[in-house]
Amino acid sequence: MKKILFPFLLLLFISTSNCLTNVEDNTGEDPVIPVSFLTDIQPIMQSRCNSCHGAGQSGFNSSGHAEIMASVSPSNRYNGPYVIAGDAASSPLIDKLEPNPDHGQRMPQGSSLSGDDINKIRAWINEGALNN
Ligand code: HEC
Repeated sequence: MKKILFPFLLLLFISTSNCLTNVEDNTGEDPVIPVSFLTDIQPIMQSRCNSCHGAGQSGFNSSGHAEIMASVSPSNRYNGPYVIAGDAASSPLIDKLEPNPDHGQRMPQGSSLSGDDINKIRAWINEGALNN
């Protein structure tokens, strides 16, 4: 019995690992990055934005989820909410984090976030800008 068990397990391992690789190869999509507001986004805001926006300065309040979602850009700027849930590409918040924003300077003022941090914020917005 033991003699056939080992080759059988080996075969099972090879066939399942092959199967897993194929699944990854065939999707052709970027892997989903699961993002949490509390553990991924809030710490970025706390360390990089709150010093200037923690009390809503310049129309953007970075102090918490509700405050971020309620922040609206005036009509002579982006004329609407900074975060459009599900649509990072249209969200002024992302425009302000990238080089050469449509209005004003790139944020954080005088510096920039890492590509990883911008991608986390982008993914958070695209996943629905949840308070998760
Ligand atoms: C050193 C201070 C400072 C820091 C840090 C900072 N900001 Fe700003 N922010 C400003 C100033 C000043 C303005 C107004 C001028 C401008 O838009 O360039 C502003 C404007 C904004 C606006 C409003 C733009 C508009 O046109 O309505 C947003 C959104 C914003 N910042 C997001 C952020 C985010 C997100 C961070 C952190 C990643 C951040 N800021 C960090 C100073 C700062």
